[in-house]
Amino acid sequence: MATLHTKVGIIGAGPAGLLLSHLLHLEGIESIVIEVQTRQYVEERNRAGVLEQGTVDLLNASGVGERLRREGLIHHGIELRFNRQGHRIDMHELTGGRAITVYAQHEVVKDLVHARLRDGGQILFEASQVSIHDFEGDSPRIRFERHGEPSEVACDFIGGCDGFHGICRPSIPAGALRFYEKTYPFGWLGITAEAVPASHELIYSNHERGFALLSMRSPIITRAYLQCRPDEDLAAWPDERIWEELDRRFETCGGFRLNRGPVDQKGVTPMRSFVTEPMQYGRLFLAGDAAHIVPPTGAKGLNLAVADVRILARALSAWYGTGSEQLLKQYSDICLRRVWRAQHFSWWMTSMLHRFEGGDGFDHRRQLAELDQVTTLRAAAVTLAENYTGLPFDLPGETL
Ligand code: FAD
Ligand code: PHB
Repeated sequence: MATLHTKVGIIGAGPAGLLLSHLLHLEGIESIVIEVQTRQYVEERNRAGVLEQGTVDLLNASGVGERLRREGLIHHGIELRFNRQGHRIDMHELTGGRAITVYAQHEVVKDLVHARLRDGGQILFEASQVSIHDFEGDSPRIRFERHGEPSEVACDFIGGCDGFHGICRPSIPAGALRFYEKTYPFGWLGITAEAVPASHELIYSNHERGFALLSMRSPIITRAYLQCRPDEDLAAWPDERIWEELDRRFETCGGFRLNRGPVDQKGVTPMRSFVTEPMQYGRLFLAGDAAHIVPPTGAKGLNLAVADVRILARALSAWYGTGSEQLLKQYSDICLRRVWRAQHFSWWMTSMLHRFEGGDGFDHRRQLAELDQVTTLRAAAVTLAENYTGLPFDLPGETL
């Protein structure tokens, strides 16, 4: 069996794994990324679209923001729509100048893959039978097959960046971790369409028929989501039905309508909140969706993955630079503080905006009161804007 040697073995070439590898490279620390999918697959997988200010700042500062600066759409506000009226949350004004950038996750992935390969980094796509070993001790190993050949990576640390369905988290002995989970009785049906977005800013709409979100991928590509059943059958949703349902859920007294165009992609995503504690076992460090999932209503998943690996890269750099284990030991606690804040925000946005079945209408009335408060009481609007644009990387009380 061929054995490769590196300092950090990283499982998964999503945003977490690729950015970790890139940040380590900038610190002079070698890594190898192992990915089950093809390069084309990871570069085309359409998922998140909203980058927090701090995420954009980190991508820029680490030298992978050139296309992002050219093509990213900077948004200073979002709209909350309810009772058939729109209410703008001016995030820029409410936060003293912060903004979000709409730039697709797969574009971030493309930029990172390009940078890693340009800098001589190793990303082993199309690996199969990936397994991790000996991470309780000082010499972890990763085994996998590629093109039918068994291979092994010997390393000092493993970055478990293989998403929610990966193998890293389940490889940790039962009983060493605690899981917190909440599933929601709905999912999102998402489409990408060749149509000019009907609004310059994102619209989050609370409607009796269910939540809807209008987003975009570029000035000519619309991305939109409808609340649906978690197991919704896509076959029951021809394009015409999707557009009609979107128009109903975004309707205003002023006669708002979406621009329609050919639908390129359609998918259903179930919604869940999930946290693993701690995010470390021995020399295996979990990051991103491998450790936690948030419902997408707060647009936090990708941003949390970035925040995790920023801390992990710094902790590994301290270990290699000075031999200090302090930050590595604090990794899980530092990340989890931000993770739980994002969990709360994502749950709050989800519960304020979605339709919950049953009841006597009390919950809907309560939601409208909450939306009324968020759109009229400055303190409530500031809370939303601060969380949506992203908490500072270094939360108060941290010793970084
Ligand atoms: P992933 O992107 O899942 O990457 C994990 C990688 O590991 C994948 O490439 C996978 O193929 C690979 N892998 C899996 N198993 C193995 C294995 N055994 N061996 C090797 N490799 C493996 N977040 C936001 O911040 N803002 C948004 O607006 C937003 N919108 C979203 C909309 C939707 C519809 C969805 C589904 C998600 C959204 N998210 C959003 C969440 C965001 O997409 C995720 O949080 C993000 O992808 C996490 O990155 P990651 O690198 O941790 O995991
Ligand atoms: C997206 O554009 O895909 C998107 C935007 C905002 C969200 C979730 C997804 O809250």
